[in-house]
Amino acid sequence: MRLSITTAILAAIVLSLSSSLAISSEKSLYERIGGEKKVRAIVEDIWNNHSANPIVKDRFAKSNPVYVKQMVFEIFAAATGATDVKYHGKDMKTAHAGMNISEMEFNAVVDDVLAACAAHGVEQQELNEILAILWSVRKDIVNSHIITDTLVKADSQQSSSSSGSYASGSDDQDLEHCLKSHDC
Ligand code: HEM
Repeated sequence: MRLSITTAILAAIVLSLSSSLAISSEKSLYERIGGEKKVRAIVEDIWNNHSANPIVKDRFAKSNPVYVKQMVFEIFAAATGATDVKYHGKDMKTAHAGMNISEMEFNAVVDDVLAACAAHGVEQQELNEILAILWSVRKDIVNSHIITDTLVKADSQQSSSSSGSYASGSDDQDLEHCLKSHDC
């Protein structure tokens, strides 16, 4: 009898743990961040960070802050799983076409976004997921010629220095040297 009560208690604990785990894993990233109020506050800080960031502030000097903040709120919400927010702006390729945006500018914007999120208490797991989303649109925003030139030069240097693959130690060192010396 004692054994079956113990078993029942253990089963109840396992059930309650598994159901609470199921509930937390079902929450969207948007919900885990804190929903509309939190995301609007984060977007406000993203705008402030961009406006103070010497690498990108000139890009937004002539922008309408109300419009840009609304678009960034909508895309942030939709990309993180909000079911009640629709993005009404341009796709990322069209929105940034012809701006000749560099990798440095892209990284600066990513830094501003993550800093705003962290300042609002977003945890590391959620920061990682936000970073992955931002990284996924990089190719549509950064000038593709800059990326392609960098990769082509790194690749030709790599193949002329040895016939191995990137996985071998010496090639890793070649690529590291080329990136550090900005000679690729
Ligand atoms: C990191 C990912 C980025 C996302 C998710 C993003 C998102 C957006 C969105 C939603 C818009 C509004 C689109 C519309 O007008 O319909 C926009 C516009 C714009 N973005 Fe980005 N952006 C990113 C990176 C960048 C970078 C790296 C720069 C350059 C530093 C940049 C500069 C601009 C500018 C200048 C506008 C036009 C603002 C205006 O209409 O006045 N963005 N972006």
